[in-house]
Amino acid sequence: MDGSPVIRPILEDEIPQAAELIQAVITEQYDPAVYPRLMEQFAEGFLGAFDTEGKLQGVCIVIPVEDNAIRVLVLAVWPELRRLGIGRKLMDRTEDLARGYKKEKVTLEVRTINRGGLGFYTSLGYLVRKYLQAFYSDGSDAYYMEKMV
Ligand SMILES: CC(C)(COP(=O)(O)OP(=O)(O)OC[C@H]1O[C@@H](n2cnc3c(N)ncnc32)[C@H](O)[C@@H]1OP(=O)(O)O)[C@@H](O)C(=O)NCCC(=O)NCCS
Repeated sequence: MDGSPVIRPILEDEIPQAAELIQAVITEQYDPAVYPRLMEQFAEGFLGAFDTEGKLQGVCIVIPVEDNAIRVLVLAVWPELRRLGIGRKLMDRTEDLARGYKKEKVTLEVRTINRGGLGFYTSLGYLVRKYLQAFYSDGSDAYYMEKMV
């Protein structure tokens, strides 16, 4: 594994691969019906990192939101493929997308107990702007983070 994935939008028939990864990695559980809807809403923001054999290594779902921003809804990399730069490449593409749409920032939420996620986003230059109490469905708190692009 050389950690040099191809980053491109996920195709409709690849949604099950993305759903499997998200379900395995993300604490918040999503109804699988949400993915086709998100893809329809903003296909360019339904990003995958693929290896040379076309296997999905990581996924990042982003949407344009008010406040002149692109918001990260989901970011997940398979555990055995972490620390190879895949998450960073997905976020680089997200920031390119934001600039392409003339947005001024990328925003996201991360569980306050997710030290790995916090370390990752901090290393990419994201700053905590708000504390969101009971943000997640299980009552967990979140940090709202953002980066000007
Ligand atoms: C967060 C996540 C997407 C990072 O993906 P990744 O591909 O491992 O990240 P990268 O390899 O691109 O890391 C880039 C840099 O971020 C920082 N970083 C990454 N993971 C980190 C961790 N667990 N702790 C502290 N810093 C971390 C490091 O500075 C790293 O550079 P380095 O490896 O050269 O030191 C991945 O760990 C993951 O899927 N976690 C579970 C889901 C999650 O927490 N998603 C985000 C919140 S929704």
